[in-house]
Amino acid sequence: MTSGTTLPSGPAGRKRLHVITWGCQMNVYDSGRMSDVLAPLGYAPADTPDGADMVILNTCHIRDKAAEKVFSELGRLRRLKDASGGRMILAVAGCVAQAEGKEILARAPYVDIVLGPQTYHRLPEMVAQAARAGGAVIETEFPAEDKFDHLPEQSAPQGVTAFLTVQEGCDKFCSFCVVPYTRGAEQSRSAPTILAEARRLIAQGSREITLLGQNVNAWHGAGTDGAAWGLGRLLRAMAELPGLGRLRYATSHPRDMDDDLIAAHRDLPMLMPFLHLPVQSGSDRILAAMNRKHTGDDYRRLADRLRAARPDIAFSSDFIVGHPGETEKDFEATMALVRDVGFAQAYSFKYSQRPGTPAAGAPGQVAEAEKDRRLQALQALLRDQQTRFNAACVGREMNVLFTGPARHPGQVAGRSQYLQPVHVLGVPSLAGRDLPVRIDAALPNSLSGTLVQERLSA
Ligand code: 5AD
Ligand code: SF4
Repeated sequence: MTSGTTLPSGPAGRKRLHVITWGCQMNVYDSGRMSDVLAPLGYAPADTPDGADMVILNTCHIRDKAAEKVFSELGRLRRLKDASGGRMILAVAGCVAQAEGKEILARAPYVDIVLGPQTYHRLPEMVAQAARAGGAVIETEFPAEDKFDHLPEQSAPQGVTAFLTVQEGCDKFCSFCVVPYTRGAEQSRSAPTILAEARRLIAQGSREITLLGQNVNAWHGAGTDGAAWGLGRLLRAMAELPGLGRLRYATSHPRDMDDDLIAAHRDLPMLMPFLHLPVQSGSDRILAAMNRKHTGDDYRRLADRLRAARPDIAFSSDFIVGHPGETEKDFEATMALVRDVGFAQAYSFKYSQRPGTPAAGAPGQVAEAEKDRRLQALQALLRDQQTRFNAACVGREMNVLFTGPARHPGQVAGRSQYLQPVHVLGVPSLAGRDLPVRIDAALPNSLSGTLVQERLSA
């Protein structure tokens, strides 16, 4: 039901756009780019959906209940849309839209636009079409053109820390995962367009850039010198950009950690010594069932090689407990791997059946209560490792990139090299500076400290 929707009135028209984002960092990046695409139509960001002219739900389908969350949010937004006399445009984007677009329109016919992650460059057309057609517009095909070639160069500043998508999609087909279906095949952006976007981010004040991809270390492409580059070479080119202080990349697959990328960790001080490298399980049997194509020992060796290249490196990971066929012995192998490698931080999940994935129909589904028990045991171990890692920072001097005011007045917040939030007494104008801080105390999820310069001058 889109009657009453008015055409956007061009750059001069003032319209309010509210975007709700779930899921991964790539969705955060995509939400920013959808706002950029709509800015020339007069849409400016709004903090709340109340009174907004358009609301986009950017959704995540990775685990259970994603669709239910979307429907309950849509129910709430429907009331706001009714209150606007039907004028508010409601769009559902992201991976739930990709996977369940038709069902969304069937269950929530008041939705105006459904668009998959590969089509957000077409949003302006879709908005116009929704207004004209008086019916819903759905775009969940994988288009022939590359959306990155059709996005505006102009983007709203992201702040001191910024994300930059360099690669999208996944060809790995892990047994449990919907990403290869919702995001499509692996695609890399070209090095020149990535470097140009990075220069713009730096000019807008970003000091740290995280290169993003579902399988970011599968990135490859022709470099600015015409040679075939991998991610290691791209990081070297990024490190030469004036004004950039820190580099990160996420998320990686262990199989794509090639020699040059490991060497980049040795050679580039600005490549932060913190790597999110999901392993999922420590059992070779389950890793094979997951189609991960590596063993627990492959992962241990990789961690050793990275530590040899960059001795201060710390690891983060993703784990799944209760994948079909996982026995107590398999779970113990995961616990053993965690003890062997040691993680500064981690995400762990109960296996969740995703329709259309190979594991969903596999025999040996694990009982929910068993998954709960394993998850609790694993999380206790991971929490303990994280607490120890944070406690070991106390008394050390660590560099902190300040991002802005902290919650408490008089304090400024930033991130350590290990992405730990750090609070320091100081003025918000420190934002953008990367300064040494003496760590005074560790909480489970953050640190507090004192600016070293201030102590010297005091
Ligand atoms: N069930 C549970 N966790 C999952 N993940 C991906 N698919 C599933 C699933 N079906 C987790 C993986 C992945 C992270 C982003 O989400 O650990 O690395
Ligand atoms: Fe999903 Fe595996 Fe691809 Fe990661 S590598 S996005 S877990 S299929």
